[in-house]
Amino acid sequence: MRRTSTKMASSIAAHRVHMSGRSKLVQCLQKVDRVFHRRVGTTAVAAHADPPTKDEAAGEKDGRLSFYAVQAQRQKEAERSVLINCPQMTNKKKILKFLSLHGDIKKYFTYESYGIHAVVEFASQDSVYSLLDAASIPSNNHESLVPYKSRLMTLRYLTEVTSQQSSKETHSQTTIPINDLIMRLCQEESIDQQIVSLTEAYQLTEENSRLRFLVCSMLKDIAAAYFPECSIKPFGSSVNGFGKLGCDLDMFLDLDGISGRNLKMPPSGMALEYQMKRASSERSVTQSLLSVIGECVDQFGPGCVGVQKILNARCPLVRFSHQPSGFQCDLTANNRVAMKSSELLYLYGQLDPRVRHLVFTVRCWARAKGVTSSIPGAWITNFSLTVMVVFFLQGRSPSIIPTLDHLRNLAGPADKSVIEGNDCTFVSDFDRIQLQSNTETLEKLLCEFFEFYGSFEFIKKSINIRKGKEQNKPEACALHIQNPFETALNVSKNVNHTQLERFVDLCKEGAWLLQQSDIIEPKRGRTPQPWGLASLLLPAKGTGGKSQKKWRKELPNVRIKSLLESLKKKNSRTA
Ligand code: GTP
Ligand code: MG
Repeated sequence: MRRTSTKMASSIAAHRVHMSGRSKLVQCLQKVDRVFHRRVGTTAVAAHADPPTKDEAAGEKDGRLSFYAVQAQRQKEAERSVLINCPQMTNKKKILKFLSLHGDIKKYFTYESYGIHAVVEFASQDSVYSLLDAASIPSNNHESLVPYKSRLMTLRYLTEVTSQQSSKETHSQTTIPINDLIMRLCQEESIDQQIVSLTEAYQLTEENSRLRFLVCSMLKDIAAAYFPECSIKPFGSSVNGFGKLGCDLDMFLDLDGISGRNLKMPPSGMALEYQMKRASSERSVTQSLLSVIGECVDQFGPGCVGVQKILNARCPLVRFSHQPSGFQCDLTANNRVAMKSSELLYLYGQLDPRVRHLVFTVRCWARAKGVTSSIPGAWITNFSLTVMVVFFLQGRSPSIIPTLDHLRNLAGPADKSVIEGNDCTFVSDFDRIQLQSNTETLEKLLCEFFEFYGSFEFIKKSINIRKGKEQNKPEACALHIQNPFETALNVSKNVNHTQLERFVDLCKEGAWLLQQSDIIEPKRGRTPQPWGLASLLLPAKGTGGKSQKKWRKELPNVRIKSLLESLKKKNSRTA
């Protein structure tokens, strides 16, 4: 059988799990991951980066940096960086020589988005100031200019240049098209390798992550005109380890330094305090802040276009496109719970490499099948899907990752966090977390994921990663996924019955297709036959197509058979 031979031949770590223990599996997958992480900004230090500072080293365990250590490091790199639009015919050596007049350059890379752009990180922030001092105002007599100096600049040749050598080393900031991905997966030897290959193709690169932090840092320069102590931090998939190239950039304006939140009162004696305007609610403060900052971004922010202030949403935000980076940006304020969610997902992703691989695969599959969408609506969101994967992995026997309640019990005093009355405490020190020994392969987990949700009792049960066990649904809705920190909320409240049913049907189909891959010999060559994960990513077709007809002929096992029967019944009801 193909499966046996390819598995034996494969060098990918996950295939050795039948022979070795879990620790070996994790070690091997981490080895694979380390190779990737050299290029994944959210989880690793840049190849040419500084040795970690004392604070960062304190957050580093087994080569894994804590969430806040990664954030701090990226933020510092961003503050020492500038973004330069370069002429098409660019001679890299000459540019570097020109820029290094202002100081040593630590990192330099280029990419294409509305022309060639270079990200330049200096060794010292003074070099950035020197560069800003030396830059001139554009001498354009035809247009009026908004007089705002930023770290987004344009490089011009003042003298006529002849035959400059073009730099071909631009880094792509977008993913490969789905059809190319499918072709790539067809060439792999096993489903485990396909899953690893998908993660490799889709995850954020080191460069993309740097660019995200640089955009935040440049926006902070604008907001700092009003609030010098503020910072703008990325959250969501830009930093939680599950970001795909091209994903949006979620940011929040952090004013904790001046919000009075972390106030320490002097024990006695006299004290001066600022007089501050009072507002009717936290929400109205957030709306005012975003309104003003949104206006500044719109009026003064170079490269920021299509600014929309969406202030009446549940979570008020300013949305815009940052053209030089190509990012779709969502700026929020006072969103500390979402930051905690990002930290939690990052932690889960770091505990076992299978978490990230499975999340990437499920997210990619869901997008290919139209389960998720970039347009808001009754679809399942990527965030909900990630929580569903976490819940599924908590429920394996033995469990692959611990419950949130368990992580809470392991927390130390420094981990304590209560945000707006919600307990957001959980351990941040990887060393305190003991994992159980589970050796399941990625292929098995993916197949079981589909079977699990293909037969989950969505009508009665709620998904709860705090407990790691399904709970009775507290309210009538199609899909109930408890918000991990604001526990009275449902993160998938928007999902309707039609969308949930599609998801369930596609899970059943996914399980069936993976079972088929067990026995179908892949046809390689110029036009390889999609097999394994590749066949799962083919665009969704209506029921009754060729592949569905095949299902009924070749029933692989009893469990899948019962899943298919229920799908068949449903189809005949709706026909
Ligand atoms: P993509 O942008 O789709 O790649 O994933 P994402 O995780 O960044 O999702 P999104 O941009 O929609 O949201 C950003 C972050 O906001 C998420 O990672 C969560 O931390 C948080 N978030 C999103 N949706 C919800 C929700 O319904 N409830 C809560 N509490 N938080 C949410
Ligand atoms: Mg996002």
